[in-house]
Amino acid sequence: MRVLAIESSCDESAAAVLDAQAGLMAHELYSQVELHRTYGGVVPELASRDHVRRLLPLIESALAHAATAPAALDGVAYTAGPGLIGALLTGAALATSLAYAWKIPAIGVHHLEGHLLAPLLESEPPPFPHVALLVSGGHTQLIEVAAIGRYRLLGETRDDAAGEAFDKTAKLLGLPYPGGPQLAELARQGTPGAFTFPRPMLDRPGLEFSFSGLKTAVLHAVRSAELTAQRRADIARAVEEAITGTLTAKALRALEYTGLATLVVSGGVGANRALRAQLSAAAQAHGARVYYPRIEFCTDNAAMIAVAGLARLAAGQRAGLAIEARAQWPLAALAQLAA
Ligand code: KG4
Ligand code: ZN
Repeated sequence: MRVLAIESSCDESAAAVLDAQAGLMAHELYSQVELHRTYGGVVPELASRDHVRRLLPLIESALAHAATAPAALDGVAYTAGPGLIGALLTGAALATSLAYAWKIPAIGVHHLEGHLLAPLLESEPPPFPHVALLVSGGHTQLIEVAAIGRYRLLGETRDDAAGEAFDKTAKLLGLPYPGGPQLAELARQGTPGAFTFPRPMLDRPGLEFSFSGLKTAVLHAVRSAELTAQRRADIARAVEEAITGTLTAKALRALEYTGLATLVVSGGVGANRALRAQLSAAAQAHGARVYYPRIEFCTDNAAMIAVAGLARLAAGQRAGLAIEARAQWPLAALAQLAA
């Protein structure tokens, strides 16, 4: 079975071709970061319009790189939600139309299921069951993954997502959008321990997160003295430590709670190297093992949508002819795969 996959939930346009036997045959991505930078964040209408421009050439290029004619495809997977509704609709409309024209099924994929399954693209995929730490721009969740399609939410953020916390504090430090990776870069020059920011939910039992208080703490640090280059780096360092420290402690707590020894980390913040180093060290001390997608598949991409889409098409699931997308879509509402 071979599928074409399309991702367009936010500000990345992407296409990929995945074959059940041959593996990932092609993946193409166009990031709209430059387009949105002037505005300090994603402008939904501009994102939708740009997806319309980018998606078809990306699909043509992915099919060419995979040396795959449409006749060799068994389905088209697309991100059906959650995300920006206009952006989602561009991919949904295109995928549904192509599948109709090519007389093959389409399947709408849950974006977070894509992130969760991204590590399956690596040569050493994680075993099931495992605990997943899903950390993106919009979500921070700990999920027990019994199998593909069987997800139990263990805990999530009560306010800002980890990526959002990176981006918002980066903005306070004057870094351009999207601030997360730039803040991480700046943090490397920071002195450890120069600042200590709160880790709100750590002293309480449970697997919930809260990151909104970080903004206030950072704002206070930024305003309380002249913001020299070193001070900026020190603050960035402390922000990164507060976020990665909280994520690491809670992820370990989730392993203890479930009795599982495998942790999977995915989503954009999973690209953060300090987080990876901390998690790997903590897991090792705990006798557990951590699995990550390669860095480029932590952030949004179509390869991960192809993995989820292929699994669901292989299980016989199909989208109808209606063009469907959902801005909100709880992971728990996902249909299970037949055993
Ligand atoms: O998964 P993703 O690409 O998009 C969503 O589905 O949200 O995640 C994007 C988020 C952004 O908040 C971005 O700043 C953050 O991931 N991010 C990072 C790093 N790379 C991406 N945050 C911290 N350190 C990084 N290296
Ligand atoms: Zn994402």
